[in-house]
Amino acid sequence: MPPQVVVGSGGVGKSCLTVRFLKDEFTNEYDPTIEENYRKNVTVDNVQCTAYIIDTAGQHEYKALRDQHLKDGKGFLLVFAVNDKSSLEEVKQLREQIMKLKETRKVPFVICANKCDLPADQVEVDMNSVKAFCQEVKIPLLSTSAKENINVEESFQDLVRECRSG
Ligand code: GTP
Ligand code: MG
Repeated sequence: MPPQVVVGSGGVGKSCLTVRFLKDEFTNEYDPTIEENYRKNVTVDNVQCTAYIIDTAGQHEYKALRDQHLKDGKGFLLVFAVNDKSSLEEVKQLREQIMKLKETRKVPFVICANKCDLPADQVEVDMNSVKAFCQEVKIPLLSTSAKENINVEESFQDLVRECRSG
């Protein structure tokens, strides 16, 4: 299967989600990613395949490297953090950018509202409007936590499913 690419702003938890999915581990430390590539055998809807996952950089210094993957990727896990409003805007922009690069609106996407474990007083994003947006553009939305292992496996599985049907 062609690569599935994890994208979003710096610090939203892309690497933590990826590592949680691959190794069932979590760290509170933040080590900005340049780029990491992984493979994992997954079974989705009783069909096995090898998922090839690229964990990209959110920090601006490494954007050039990331942009190549926006072209080559098959499916995209668009990640924002619920305590970072600007990261939601970045996800919306990335979606537009990827559709433009691929010259099609039919791109397999899954949106992760990550850090859903945070207390309500830290949440900056209006989840009702995010839900409305995702319904309108027909993209599966999952509230995830790499920290508490909520909806991590489901997100990657949904993406495989979207890639198969798309
Ligand atoms: P870049 O590689 O720079 O793009 O960042 P990233 O999106 O890969 O973020 P990373 O996974 O490195 O996580 C950044 C910080 O957020 C770390 O301190 C993590 O411990 C924390 N973090 C990640 N996921 C969660 C989560 O689900 N909940 C909470 N509370 N913290 C999280
Ligand atoms: Mg990272």
